[in-house]
Amino acid sequence: MALAVRFHDQLSHNSTASLGDEILAGFAARPKWASPKFFYDRRGSELFEKITEQPEYYPTRTEELILSLAAHDIAEIAGPEADLIELGSGASRKVRLLLEAMRPSSYLGIDISEDFLRSSTLQLAADYPWLDVHALCADFCDELHLPEGFDSVCPLAFFPGSSIGNFTPTQAQQFLTRLHCLLPVGSGLLVGVDLIKSKTVLEAAYNDAAGVTEAFNLNLLERIRCELDSDIDPRRFMHKAIFNEGQSRIEMHLVSREAQDVTIKGRRFHFEAGESLHTENSYKYSLASFAALGRSAGFESIAQWTDPQQLFSVHYLQRSV
Ligand code: AVI
Repeated sequence: MALAVRFHDQLSHNSTASLGDEILAGFAARPKWASPKFFYDRRGSELFEKITEQPEYYPTRTEELILSLAAHDIAEIAGPEADLIELGSGASRKVRLLLEAMRPSSYLGIDISEDFLRSSTLQLAADYPWLDVHALCADFCDELHLPEGFDSVCPLAFFPGSSIGNFTPTQAQQFLTRLHCLLPVGSGLLVGVDLIKSKTVLEAAYNDAAGVTEAFNLNLLERIRCELDSDIDPRRFMHKAIFNEGQSRIEMHLVSREAQDVTIKGRRFHFEAGESLHTENSYKYSLASFAALGRSAGFESIAQWTDPQQLFSVHYLQRSV
């Protein structure tokens, strides 16, 4: 019986330094940018959970519907020996559908947000006393290692939520290639992928009427203000999310409401009125283009599931060689 969560840490102990270095580099670039991985401090993770409850944000509930219908097929393809790895585990809600269908002996949750990871894995350990629960605090944009004690011969790695869409296609291919090296031959990789659809539906999903996505985007500036000794004022920026059809991606920006200077860690940066800080891309795929991306990293496409409106998809890929 699992009494506790086995916690492992692979996060650089220099994470404030890496936040500072990356933010300074992004503010010095033209156009200015910031990595979306910095959205997820405690408040950012909570705001993201709230986004998933907004009526306009269809991906989460649609993926849950797909998984609830496909969970037994997934368990059958993965086989009775498969353990479960969850990448970007967040609140670990969707994975419960898989845990119940597969009843694996071990689960490993991987997330960059340490306190969020701790609370969600402790809850899983309490709810599933038969499960050996591991938690790994890591940035999966870096090289990953499976922690000691999690010795799975043929795991199923689960990467839900279309987080793969927050990488550029080149970064996504590099990430999948790293997973191909990490996972033993025969392992499965289950990926949630948002599909290309109308601009109206897409833009509404990233501009919810309650302003939660706006607060999520602006929280990045609050984090810079508090953690990087900065005078940046979130009230002097506005949230913008648009679908770039040519690139097949939603772009999120923070647009300066006026000409202004901001200081971060002693360095000054100038914004023109209307100048943007590009904070996130969320790429959308077709079923075929995502299968091709998986193939380019050495994964075979075994099965795909979608909802009746073809809003979202779940892909079962396998490392065959
Ligand atoms: C986590 N990721 C898949 C979300 C997305 O849809 O790209 C993050 C998000 N950004 C704004 N709303 C949700």
